[in-house]
Amino acid sequence: MSTKQQLLIYLKKHKGDWVSGESLAHTMAVSRAAIWKHVCNLRAEGYVIESSRKKGYILQQASDLLLADEIQEGLNTSTFGKRGIVYFSETDSTNIRAKVIANDGAPEGTVVVAEKQTHGRGRRGRRWFSPPDDGIYTSIILRPLLPPNEAPKLTLLASVAVAEALISMTSLDVNIKWPNDILINGRKIAGILTEISTEMDRIDYVVIGVGLNVNTLCESFPSDIRDRATSILMETGKPFPRIALLRAYLEWFEIYYETFKTKGFQPVMNRWKNLADIIGRRISVDMIDRVSMGEVLDVDKDGFLILRNNKGAIERIISGDVTLLNK
Ligand code: BTN
Repeated sequence: MSTKQQLLIYLKKHKGDWVSGESLAHTMAVSRAAIWKHVCNLRAEGYVIESSRKKGYILQQASDLLLADEIQEGLNTSTFGKRGIVYFSETDSTNIRAKVIANDGAPEGTVVVAEKQTHGRGRRGRRWFSPPDDGIYTSIILRPLLPPNEAPKLTLLASVAVAEALISMTSLDVNIKWPNDILINGRKIAGILTEISTEMDRIDYVVIGVGLNVNTLCESFPSDIRDRATSILMETGKPFPRIALLRAYLEWFEIYYETFKTKGFQPVMNRWKNLADIIGRRISVDMIDRVSMGEVLDVDKDGFLILRNNKGAIERIISGDVTLLNK
């Protein structure tokens, strides 16, 4: 463990208490100048550390940057986030970075996080608004033993995990809009982009990217999405610690992924249906080549939407943008 990490652990153990530079230097077996240098580095990483000539140092607030050490502290998983977390203060897209490291052999459970994305990507070629420090932009790598046509199930699973994380950490009323938009009060708070690499008839890897608006202010959203997007800050009026939410998402993801592997997809699908409130609703679905309107009869075991369209024909739809027409 590096001196900086040791220093941080020590300061956290004494959070709220002053510790003298001399005792720190002694405990870490380094000079006081070295302690000062590490304190400066920690401050640059977002830790609020006060210093006083007489009293020494005091940790006032841990960093809310999505640093690997912070995420891993108290993370209750055995795979996700435990086999490597790749951190970027800025990157093009965490999905792009995850695909690069997956191609280089990164194991299942590897997590990529960024404070900011310059080319955050959404579904259907759209962009994902990814301003610095306000949201969670993360991608996880999976290597499931599944045929490629079962990959859409993993997107549904991720949407359940995001919803569960939000429900368990906030008191907000969370909904899923098919296939995988996470909504609060009808506005989108999170989106999921799944990308897959296949070899013949099996999946090589899957990258599941999640963008979650945490501390974004309404006026920060671009005008074209402002009336459709929301964040935890907007819904509750209070900023929320991103690290805790990211940890909860990884933990829920692992729970549902294990359920899928050991008990099949039905329990995941049941929870998805519970959170989605779409069956029986009249909707319009905008697909790449057409728009269909009708009543949702079901979401089948593979996650396809079963729609009785206005002409009475039954359609099985794999992807599209849904608009709810009435309650
Ligand atoms: C959507 O359109 O609803 C999906 C949005 C997915 C955004 C996330 S942010 C992290 C990951 N990296 C990307 O470039 N996109 C996904």
